[in-house]
Formats: sequence, structure tokens, C-alpha cells
Amino acid sequence: MKLTIIGSGYVGLTTGACFAEAGHHVVCVDNDEAKVASLLAGEIPIFEPGLEALVKKNVSAKRLRFTSSTEEGVDHGEVLFIAVPTPPQADGSVDLSFMEKVAREIAQYLTSYRVIVDKSTVPVKTGERVAHTIRRHAKPGVEFDVVSNPEFLREGSAVADLMKPDRIVIGGNSDRALALMQKIYEPFMAPVLVTDINSAELIKHAANSFLALKISYINALAEICEISGADVLKVAEGIGADKRIGRSFLNAGLGYGGSCFPKDIAAFIAISEQLGLPFNLLKEVQSINNRQIDRFLDAIREALWVLKDKKIAVWGLSFKPNTDDVRCSVAMTLVERLVAEGAVVSAYDPKAMDKARELPVAAQIRLTESALEAAKEAEVLIIATEWPEFASVDLAALRETMHTPLIFDGRNLLDPAAVRDFGFQYRGIGRGV
Ligand code: UGA
Repeated sequence: MKLTIIGSGYVGLTTGACFAEAGHHVVCVDNDEAKVASLLAGEIPIFEPGLEALVKKNVSAKRLRFTSSTEEGVDHGEVLFIAVPTPPQADGSVDLSFMEKVAREIAQYLTSYRVIVDKSTVPVKTGERVAHTIRRHAKPGVEFDVVSNPEFLREGSAVADLMKPDRIVIGGNSDRALALMQKIYEPFMAPVLVTDINSAELIKHAANSFLALKISYINALAEICEISGADVLKVAEGIGADKRIGRSFLNAGLGYGGSCFPKDIAAFIAISEQLGLPFNLLKEVQSINNRQIDRFLDAIREALWVLKDKKIAVWGLSFKPNTDDVRCSVAMTLVERLVAEGAVVSAYDPKAMDKARELPVAAQIRLTESALEAAKEAEVLIIATEWPEFASVDLAALRETMHTPLIFDGRNLLDPAAVRDFGFQYRGIGRGV
């Protein structure tokens, strides 16, 4: 099928590449001409395992191309996916101006029937607004349908998630549009759930909020474990073994970050308030998440007394492993807070150094070439992101290079017993034993 993706960011680019891989003919549109030029030159702006190879393969197979012309995109695709940013506003509600702008642009170029799909994460009832906007700006009599098709990919495993999804959610009210959508997803052989538009939109916010709730639940338990002398890893294993609960997303740590959860939970709270039904449970999820970093810093202060002029090493800057994304990364927030207290921070990340360098705080820290170099003469080592390479570090060399053998493991990556054997003092999250 001929498909168009408008917005070649994280979701747009990976979705476009995976649709092409499934045999569709895909045009990815982006209004950032420089980005389009670099994509045409084969440069992928993000680190995502498997993506570069997939893009190159499908570009040379002529199933995937890039353009900055929305008109060309609207002309090409029978189905037009909107995958533009939906950033948060100061009050947590979603800024839908990119969405509205693209809807108007599409309307301007519509000449015959198209399905317009909301792929971006949007508040419930956005589909109705998109349909209304297109109707208002399109030539009279032009036919179209609007569909909601939320995306559930995770950064770091986006290609695998897209090629083998747990489920596909398609929300729409036109048989013609739903048939086309089902045809697009046939090659993926995944369960398809067909709903109305509003339910599909809600599913996305509800799913992310539930995952965040699991994380905050285990983080609140971690605090109880620390005080009561229990091990949160064992507690997570014990409760997660119940199939109704499940072990995933019960990893206690510094809390959730990234460009999705913090934004989506805030948005869902704002949506619920607009509907007159404040979702207070999610407010608690947020405050537990914010408390994680405060508690962690308190514990470091407790160990070092003052942070000013202390040499502190931070391992991991991306918001989670296998990505170079530092947007809303808890690791970066931690670094900023350490710097604000006058600490002398050396930091290392296997993939996110370039992205970290673009942030203002980069000028106030030392970014090193290796994990061991960051730890040189440090009085404490903080593990902020659980990259696998940190788990296999040479502990003897680490012990040798640090000023004081003290590790604060914000992601419970290391084995406390093994680390203590090398003479380190170790503190994880929720490991009160
Ligand atoms: C999340 C969802 O998992 C995807 O299904 C969704 O499509 C995506 O948001 C989105 O809305 O676009 P992502 O943000 O890429 O995906 O990353 P996750 O793997 O979900 O991790 C989010 C944060 O939670 C990370 O900071 C991670 O460190 C943290 N986390 C995750 C924990 O602290 N503990 C856990 O047990 C799991």
C-alpha cells in the first residue's frame, strides 16, 4: 500500500521504516529541511538498534523515501499518518498546535479520499477535532476519514516492538477506513483491537499511566524495604511471579523519565481535570516519582555531608539503556542538581555523549571517554542508567581509581555482595538487607 507519515521524529521515522520493511511504499515527510537532507544522505538522527540498517535497506529497495513537501506526501499516501510532537504546556496539558497545523495542511492538499491517522499521543477527543479542522479547510465534497492508531513502541527496542507488537489498536467509525487500516497491519500478524476513536485515544494514555503506576508502586515499596530491612528485588520477584501482576516494570530505581511517561501522566491528569474527574491516583504516582531523586540525593548528602567541591562520578546519562535520548532523563536531572550544589561532576554514557553535550549543564561538567575515567579520584560513583557495560566493569580497577570506594547504584544494577567483596561501600534502591 502507499503510505505517508507526516513527522519524521522518533515515532514517524521508525514507523515509516517498519511499514516499508513490511512491503508498503512509504513517504516520510518532515518540515525540517536539514533533517530531510541528512535522512536522504543516509544519516539517522537517533540511535535506535536496527533502525539505520532498516532505513538503508528500504531506501535502496525504493520502498522508503523522504521529503519536506506535505503536498507530495498527501498526494502519495492512501493513508496519511500524523506523527508530530505533542509537547507539554506549563500546566501539563498537551500543546496540539503541530497537530492542528498538519490537519490544516492536509486539508489544503486533499483532492480525493484519504484516511488520516492520529499516530501521535493525543488527548481523548483529538480525533474529533482533527476531523472538524479538515472538514473546515478542505475543498467541499472531498471525502476522508479520521482514525486513531496509537503507538506503543519503546525507545531502545522500537524496531522489535513495531515489527512484533503485542497488539494493534485501531479506533475509527468508518468501515472503509478500518478495512484499509487492517490491510496495512496484515503483514505484522499481531492481534488487532478495533474500537471507536475516543477509546483508542484513551488506551494510549491509560497504558502509559498504568506502567508508570507500576514503577511508582515498586519505588514506594522500595522505601518501605529500606526502612524495614527487606530487599525490593526479592519482593518484586515474589509479587511479579503472580501472572495477574507480572514482573515487568517493577524495577525500583531513580524513577521514570524520558519523553513519554512524565509528559503523558501530566497530560492524563490535565485531561481528567478538564473532564471534571481529577485522577488523584496519578498525582500520587507523579509525586512518588519526584521523591525518588530527592531521597537519593538525601542519602548521598548523608554519606558525604556537603556536596560542594566533591568529585562525583555519574555513569549513564540517557533516560534508559540502549538509547541516546537524554530528554527528561532522570540521570541528567541528577547531574543538574549535583552541579547546582557545587559538586564537581565527571560523567560518562556509552551512547548519549553527543546528545548530552548539547545541554546547558554540559559546560559545567566533565564528559569523559570511558566509565573508569569518569570514576577517577571520585568520592562517590553514581549509577544513574543501567547500561549493561557498567555491570561488567573491572571492579579492581574501579577500586584502584576512585578516591573513596563508595557506590550509589540508582538502578540496582550491581550485585551488592560482589561489590562489597572488592571493598566498596554499596547502596542501592530498596535494598535494606
Ligand atoms: C514508554 C512505553 O513503555 C511505550 O509502550 C510507549 O509507546 C512509549 O512510552 C511512548 O509513549 O511513546 P519509553 O518511554 O521508550 O516507552 O521507555 P520505557 O521502557 O517504558 O521506560 C520509561 C522509563 O521508565 C525509563 O526512564 C525507565 O528507566 C523507567 N522504568 C521502566 C523504571 O524505572 N522501572 C521499570 O521497571 C521500567
